[in-house]
Amino acid sequence: MALVNTTEMFKKAYEGGYAVGAFNVNNMEIIQGIVAAAKAEQAPLILQVSAGARKYASPIYLKKLVEAAIEETGLDIVLHLDHGDDFEICKACIDDGFSSVMIDGSKYPLAENIALAKKVVDYAHDRGVTVEAELGKLAGVEDAVKVSAKDATYTDPDEAVEFVQKSGVDSLAIAIGTSHGAYKFKGDPSLDFARLDKISALLPNFPLVLHGASSVPQEFVELCNKYGGKIPGAQGVPESMLRQAAKSGVCKINIDTDLRLAMTASIRQTFMEHPEEFDPRKYLAPGRDAIQKMVQHKIKDVLGCSGKK
Ligand code: G3H
Ligand code: 13P
Ligand code: ZN
Repeated sequence: MALVNTTEMFKKAYEGGYAVGAFNVNNMEIIQGIVAAAKAEQAPLILQVSAGARKYASPIYLKKLVEAAIEETGLDIVLHLDHGDDFEICKACIDDGFSSVMIDGSKYPLAENIALAKKVVDYAHDRGVTVEAELGKLAGVEDAVKVSAKDATYTDPDEAVEFVQKSGVDSLAIAIGTSHGAYKFKGDPSLDFARLDKISALLPNFPLVLHGASSVPQEFVELCNKYGGKIPGAQGVPESMLRQAAKSGVCKINIDTDLRLAMTASIRQTFMEHPEEFDPRKYLAPGRDAIQKMVQHKIKDVLGCSGKK
C-alpha cells in the first residue's frame, strides 16, 4: 500500500488491455465514495486534483485525505494534478508530495508545448514523479467538429510521436472527439477511433489518456431534472466507446462530470423527499453512496480494471 506514480500501473494496464479510472476529487465524501468502490473492486486508482479543487479544499486537506485512503484501504493510489497550467503549479504539487502531474500546454504551438512539458519532466523525474501532457484540443461544448476542423484540433499522430520523443513525458492526453462537461455531442456520439489506432500504432507500449470521458448516465440526468434540476440535452461518451478505447492503448480515463451528476442527483432527491432535513450528513451520505455505486460500475463494467490492484 502506497502513494505510487503511474509507471507500473500503466505498464500493467497497457499489457492487460484495460484502463485505470482517474477521478476528480474536491472533498471528503467524494474521496470516500471513490475509494470505497476501488477497495470493493480491488482496483488500481488515480485521484486527481484540479487547480479549482486545490483552491476549494486547500492542497493539504486533499493530500491528507488521500493518505488516509491509502492507509485505510491498503491500495496503491496515484495522487495526480489535473490540467496544470504552468510549471509553477506542477512544481508546487510535486513539492507537496503529489506522485504525478499533468502539464497542459495544449493551447500552445507544438514547440512551446514540448518545451514546457520537458521542463516539468526534468523537475518531476528527478523526484520520482510521472508527467502527463496534452496534445490537440478537446472539442468545445458548442463545437460541431467537421472533418477539416478535426485536423486543426484533434491530435496529429506524427506530432504525437515527436512530442513524446522530445519531451520525455510518461503519458499523453489526446483529442479524438471527447470534451469536458455534460454536453459532449449534439447529434450521434462519435469518436475518431481511426486516429486513436494510428497514434497507438506509432507509439507502441506508450500509455494514452482520454479526458472528457464521462458517460453522463441518463438516470442521473433524469433524477436531477425530476427533482428541480435543469440540464436538458446532456449527453456523454457511450460506455462501449470507452471500453474500445481501453483496448487501444488508452490506460487512463478521466471522469469528473459523472461524479458531479451522481452526487447532485442524490442530494436533490433527498431534499425533495425530505424538505425538513438540514443535517448535512443526511444528504451527503447518500451522495457518497451514489458515487461509490457509479464508480464501481465504471471499474467493473467499463474500464476493466476490477481485481487489477
Ligand atoms: O477537466 C476539468 C475537471 O472536470 C475539473 O474541473 O476545474 O471545475 O475542478 P474544475
Ligand atoms: P468529464 O467532464 O467528461 O468528466 O472529464 C473530466 C476530465 O477530463 C478531467 O480532466
Ligand atoms: Zn480534462
